[in-house]
Amino acid sequence: MDTRDLSAHDPYVPGRGLEEVARELGVPAANLTKLSSNENPYGPSPKAIEAIEAGATAVHRYPKASHTDLTAALAEEWDLAPAQVWVSPGADGALDYLARSMLDPGDRTLVPDPGFAYYRMSARYHHGAVGTYPVRKREDFAQSADRVLDAYDGERMVYVTSPHNPTGSEMTLDGMRELAAGVDDTTLVVVDEAYGEYAEQESARALISEFDNVAVTRTFSKAYGLAGLRIGYSLVPEAWADAYARVNTPFAANDIACRAARAALNDDDHIRRSIDGARWAREHMRAELDARTWESGGNFVLCEVDDASVTAEAAKREGVIVRDCGSFGLPDCVRVSCGTREEAREAVRVLNSVVD
Ligand SMILES: Cc1ncc(COP(=O)(O)O)c(C=O)c1O
Repeated sequence: MDTRDLSAHDPYVPGRGLEEVARELGVPAANLTKLSSNENPYGPSPKAIEAIEAGATAVHRYPKASHTDLTAALAEEWDLAPAQVWVSPGADGALDYLARSMLDPGDRTLVPDPGFAYYRMSARYHHGAVGTYPVRKREDFAQSADRVLDAYDGERMVYVTSPHNPTGSEMTLDGMRELAAGVDDTTLVVVDEAYGEYAEQESARALISEFDNVAVTRTFSKAYGLAGLRIGYSLVPEAWADAYARVNTPFAANDIACRAARAALNDDDHIRRSIDGARWAREHMRAELDARTWESGGNFVLCEVDDASVTAEAAKREGVIVRDCGSFGLPDCVRVSCGTREEAREAVRVLNSVVD
């Protein structure tokens, strides 16, 4: 017996964990600075920690009330009906629910290249085919409706990442408006705002009131510091009210995650500190790194080097773990997550010592 043909599926290779690298180098994990997964260096919101502790005694129950409460809080936050908020296990789960809602076998999708690997994976899990549109280094990774529409050929789903991973570039709201209007009515434009809190520009949420073919995905993994809990959501068109019950994996967003996310949503101090810290760090790195970098709307900076694998390995030996972007098709770039102010200074010191 065998699986179905999975040869077109890219295996997901996560960045290596702190403990794993520490063991390899034979140093305590505390001596390493992990700037390879765009995590929140300030940790989870203290209010989320309280909610996690308080929720521990209730985990023998299915997460019904906590899920409803989080959905209601997000609906209020975004001024949408609760049925338009689809809570999911991470933004990855949100991408899956959208693909499940949209794709019939063989339907085509269009994803950015370079870009976030899970779009392709999710589309293929759902028996979709994958085409790409370029986000070009020679154009400083600029994103626009035209650049997507040039490659567009009636695909069922088109993914836009803004801010874009791994480059940090953004598409303007008007650009997304142009894109939503430029594709067929039967094409869903998915705007992935995993890094939306760090950006200066407004969310694409506004487009959900203007179009019925736009969905926005968001996560608690980044600015809210809850990556380990796997909690995210999408904001979907009004007409989709009854679809969630048909596509979601029951109770996939767990009770503790729902409680923590709801608490984190109200922790203004934590979110402010996280955003301000990341904005400071990305400017600091851009100003101080002796290498070409690009403007970033996210909590990371893309940095040009000769050979990303050599640089990432050398930086790791000096205690700073950065992301070699070879797997994104950028073998001459590393992506450096913002870190705290102290970590950003350390990253600059180490990278400047290993790049020249
Ligand atoms: C662009 C982008 N979208 C989605 C995700 C997935 O986030 P989550 O942890 O919520 O699944 C990530 C995670 O790094 C990302 O970079």
